[in-house]
Amino acid sequence: MNIAVFASGTGSNFAAILQAIKAEQIKNVEVVLLVSDYPEALAVQKAKDEHIPVFAFKAKDYPDKQAYEKRILEKLKERRVDVIVLAGYMRLIGDVLLQAYGGKIINVHPSLLPAFKGKDAIGQALDYGVKVTGVTVHFVDEGMDTGPIIAQRVVKIDKDETRETLMKKIQEQEHRLLPQVIQSLANKETVQ
Ligand code: GRF
Repeated sequence: MNIAVFASGTGSNFAAILQAIKAEQIKNVEVVLLVSDYPEALAVQKAKDEHIPVFAFKAKDYPDKQAYEKRILEKLKERRVDVIVLAGYMRLIGDVLLQAYGGKIINVHPSLLPAFKGKDAIGQALDYGVKVTGVTVHFVDEGMDTGPIIAQRVVKIDKDETRETLMKKIQEQEHRLLPQVIQSLANKETVQ
């Protein structure tokens, strides 16, 4: 299974996927492309270091979302991508990619959806005062953090929890769960 990872930020999930492949925790999966809407992103540098092809673009260089997604689609086709993994990609997926890859795009989100959709899910959970939060991997549809849930992991929020400590706990779970889900898609199995 050929995957493209889309990332706008640090790319720690991207790195976790690469690491899982190297450690053979994921088999029959290759990362054939890193797509980023932020050419200076650390994720882009990580891809270059690992000699993974990169398509980095700036949305403002294109007239609209359809135009840049058409360009992305060309790259996905060139690299024979089967599945798209959104790992901190800060844009909604539009019609062009949904039509071409509907049901084959997954996203990782740092909360137990449907709670705390959108930006700063970790801060939202702390502000609300919930006692547990977690991680969700789900299929992507036209909404923001909607779409069928594939797998979730619970993270407990302790009394003295800070944003930093909670982020660390959530990331640990993300870095385990996302590779697991990718493997399950490659095996055409389900994850609990
Ligand atoms: C992760 O917390 C993910 O859940 C969210 O964006 C963050 C990306 O982090 N969608 P990283 O760039 O993989 O470190």
